[in-house]
Amino acid sequence: MARPRKTNGIGIGVEDTQICVVMVGLPARGKSLIAQKAQRYLKWLSIDAMVFNVGNYRRQDSPQPGADFFDNSNEKGERMRRAAAEAAVTDMLKWFKAGGVVGILDATNSTKERRRWVKERCDAQGVETLFVESKCDDEALVMSNILEVKTTSPDYKGLDPETAAQDFRERIHNYEKVYQTIDEDESHLTYLKIMDVGKQVIINRIQDYLQSRVVYYLMNLHIKPRSIWLSRHGESEFNLEGKIGGDAPLSARGEMYAKKLPDLVRESVGDDRPLTVWTSTLRRTIATARFLPESYNQLQWKALDELDSGVCDCLTYQEISELYPEDFAARDNDKYNYRYRGGESYRDVVIRLEPIIMELERSENILIVTHQAVLRCIYAYFMKKSQADSPWMAVPLHTLIKLTPRAYGTQEERYDAKIPAVSTWRGKGSVAKHEDPTAATDAIGKGGDLPQ
Ligand code: F6P
Repeated sequence: MARPRKTNGIGIGVEDTQICVVMVGLPARGKSLIAQKAQRYLKWLSIDAMVFNVGNYRRQDSPQPGADFFDNSNEKGERMRRAAAEAAVTDMLKWFKAGGVVGILDATNSTKERRRWVKERCDAQGVETLFVESKCDDEALVMSNILEVKTTSPDYKGLDPETAAQDFRERIHNYEKVYQTIDEDESHLTYLKIMDVGKQVIINRIQDYLQSRVVYYLMNLHIKPRSIWLSRHGESEFNLEGKIGGDAPLSARGEMYAKKLPDLVRESVGDDRPLTVWTSTLRRTIATARFLPESYNQLQWKALDELDSGVCDCLTYQEISELYPEDFAARDNDKYNYRYRGGESYRDVVIRLEPIIMELERSENILIVTHQAVLRCIYAYFMKKSQADSPWMAVPLHTLIKLTPRAYGTQEERYDAKIPAVSTWRGKGSVAKHEDPTAATDAIGKGGDLPQ
């Protein structure tokens, strides 16, 4: 039976490819984090991806098992763990049948026999397998993972963290007894082996474009603590007039923001450590970043330029609604996919931002000074915002946003420069020059931890 065709409209040849990314590794090696990030990245690129976490299936019958449950001489434990894996793989294969593109099997898959079984099940359905092993012998890294992540796991809910950590170490020990790393016996497999969180990687038999794309992304991930700062440019002359696009200079208040930005950044960094600054190639972002200390490296990226509004460039929303009423309505109807005549859609912007995201994943502390639509797309990646919501988010001017990736989510903090500026947010159907963004249901700026 023919599979439903996948069209994500971004020119990635994924139509005929279905991949099961099979995570491999002992507990506390960051497998779930890798799985979640891969899913988030692929979905941001409109590639249908889903994580199947075997632990979640196992918890349905054994919500809080002790370490001995994971001892392979414990027959009942073994039976239940196999049943959980079976249920997860069955659901995953069903999901592939319905047209899913990248399924991520998040489990230890720590024996050759288990990996063979997963591969056979996938092969039988024409699904490719890409094994991703996270092998980490760095005791300190493992310990910090045990403490930070696992003591907050539902398996240990309500337990004293020390007892939980102790039990978890015993669980790992039980897995170590049977663990087989991917080696030459498995040279027929397609795999990526990541050692000590990226110190060394081994790639074997990558077969197609989508696989190489996933592998390239995973190779760029790191877990060093860092933050990403996002700011729009200061208020521009065009913002005052309610015009979109263009390359206008800053307004007087925009200039004030540019002067205040160094202090705002210092306050949010907490010390004098320099950041790398990325701006677009447009005057208003370069001017906004120009008072930052010289010790901050600055880079201009064309990819950070504002969404290209084509024939509507330099018009107000009122003018667009009069000159191109059908386009105006079509954009409101599907803002993510609407492409301005001779210009871009939000979907197009996401595609051109992909190298930026890749570079951000590889980097440490970066401050990005960019534009409303571009900022929405970058924010959507980190905060897992949907394509339907992200183009409507309110992103106030004169506000610095600090995003800090954590194990299971990104923490957001905001720093308000307290310099008034117009609002450039526009609600559906409105042609107002400046509208109150508090009407936005999904305004950026709630702060705090948002779940991923
Ligand atoms: O109004 C400022 C601006 O950056 C314009 O240059 C751009 O076209 C617009 O925002 C993007 O926002 P929206 O997609 O809501 O029109």
